[in-house]
Amino acid sequence: MERVTVRTLRKKKKEGRKITMISTYDFISARLCEEVGIDSVLVGDSLGMVFQGQESTLPVTVEEIIYHTKAVKRGAPTRFIIVDMPFMSYQASAEEGLRNCGRVIKETGAQAVKLEGGEEIAHLVRRLVDAGIPVVGHIGYTPQSEHRFGGPKVVGKEQEEVEKLKRDLKILEDAGVFMVVLESIPWKVAKDLSESSSVITVGIGAGKYCDGQVLVFHDLVGLVDYVKPKFVRRYAEGAKIFREALRNFKIDVERGDFPSEGESYGE
Ligand code: KIV
Repeated sequence: MERVTVRTLRKKKKEGRKITMISTYDFISARLCEEVGIDSVLVGDSLGMVFQGQESTLPVTVEEIIYHTKAVKRGAPTRFIIVDMPFMSYQASAEEGLRNCGRVIKETGAQAVKLEGGEEIAHLVRRLVDAGIPVVGHIGYTPQSEHRFGGPKVVGKEQEEVEKLKRDLKILEDAGVFMVVLESIPWKVAKDLSESSSVITVGIGAGKYCDGQVLVFHDLVGLVDYVKPKFVRRYAEGAKIFREALRNFKIDVERGDFPSEGESYGE
């Protein structure tokens, strides 16, 4: 599989070819992404909820994201790997943000970092880009600010919000981000943002006119079947399949039907 780089992704936008991205946290799912040629794998801080069973993304640490990114990198060595920088790993100061992002890139082999926010992170984006680190922005609904938002919401229904999205995207573009995730934004607003910017836009709940789309692996394969945001399309009923498999294993063991002779070692 040919290695995906920032150049590959920029070329795809230029040629109007859609970019695919999956947010995931482990070797096996990353390997599947590698096999089918998903362009980019994001090690999202959604791992707090999906992998760790926490209530939000906020408790995720730099150590944890490094651990998961190393596993993902082993599974998807040629894909473009992006690390979602955890809450409070870059907000306190640009110095701390620079050090944490640098550490993540050095230790994991990932190619880029993702930071949530607009104007407020522009100074850090500039420092990172100057240090040679590609940066992905994230605007619209930003889960690390869930307490400020009061929970998940669509951003861009009010004119004031649209103006802020436009301003933030322009500031991020000027600061040097090469890609931005647009989350929970009305499709017309996201279309306008995508068409008016040279930055690659990747949408989640932002309609089909973004340059690419991202979904969380566990949502896409239906392993998360206890919540389903409007923007998720389930391509498999993973939880149903796995539940059935576990039930059958339990039945077979309890009946003495597993293991069979063929599944046992002889003398
Ligand atoms: O944490 C995550 O998985 C994300 C994507 C859903 C964009 O930020």
